[in-house]
Amino acid sequence: MNDSVALVTGGSRGIGRAICQTLARQHWLVVAVARDRQALAATAQTIVAAGGRCEHFVCDARDRSAIDRCVTTIEREHGKIDLLVNNAGGGTAGRPLAAEEMRDQDWVDMIDLNLTSVYRFCRAAVPAMKARRSGSIVNVASVAAHVASNLSNVAYTAAKTGMVGLSRHLAKELGPFGIRVNTIAPGIVASERVAAKYETYSEAERASILGRIPLGRIGRVEEVAAVVAFLGSDAASYIHGALIDINGGLFMD
Ligand SMILES: NC(=O)c1ccc[n+]([C@@H]2O[C@H](COP(=O)([O-])OP(=O)(O)OC[C@H]3O[C@@H](n4cnc5c(N)ncnc54)[C@H](OP(=O)(O)O)[C@@H]3O)[C@@H](O)[C@H]2O)c1
Repeated sequence: MNDSVALVTGGSRGIGRAICQTLARQHWLVVAVARDRQALAATAQTIVAAGGRCEHFVCDARDRSAIDRCVTTIEREHGKIDLLVNNAGGGTAGRPLAAEEMRDQDWVDMIDLNLTSVYRFCRAAVPAMKARRSGSIVNVASVAAHVASNLSNVAYTAAKTGMVGLSRHLAKELGPFGIRVNTIAPGIVASERVAAKYETYSEAERASILGRIPLGRIGRVEEVAAVVAFLGSDAASYIHGALIDINGGLFMD
């Protein structure tokens, strides 16, 4: 039995739920973190029903003290956090506003959720990882870290691009302590949120999107979760400071 503990933010649905399920199948003890208690419980229930271990913790990723409480509580109850997956986040609902139409608050909200929360979760989890000289962090950025987002606004693109710099800097600081830090950049992935948005597009819009993806389809949440689980595992023991694209060829470096 693997006694490793993973904290997955945004574990209540979408990609985060799939990450929780995949890690649990690989015998991690998973703690799913998000705001929606019922949805978190549903994630845990699917995992426990399949014989895995999953707990949940309600936390708003925009709330600094809630993040500190979350990390401290998990460390106290389970002794450690081996893997921190910063997945909570997301773009705009509906059609994105143009940069000049956004209010300051739109900018702040997007950066808080998609970038500052990642820094805060890392800041809270790193001291114990450093003390144990072991740990792994996987940050979920986006293809928007490479190209301007079509589905969201300028603040989302800025936050996801910033996450790459954040991860890179942390990798430099934390590598000497045996803590690996990596980032993934999913393309268009059919979480419930993105699938619902995709449904609103016309045939022509969908054809245009698919025409830019050499694999000819959008991704599945399990395809992202598999990469996170790999990066968190010992099989990835020499992968550090990497940015891994998961996008069907939508963007190729
Ligand atoms: N799907 C894609 O095509 C795609 C592409 C590139 C990158 N990504 C990134 O992948 C991640 C997951 O995307 P997704 O499509 O699975 O999104 P999603 O289905 O909307 O899920 C977002 C998750 O983040 C949580 N969350 C949102 N606001 C939060 C807050 N203030 N505090 C705590 N948790 C919060 C949500 O939980 P609660 O609502 O319960 O709090 C939910 O679990 C995001 O970071 C997104 O930017 C997705």
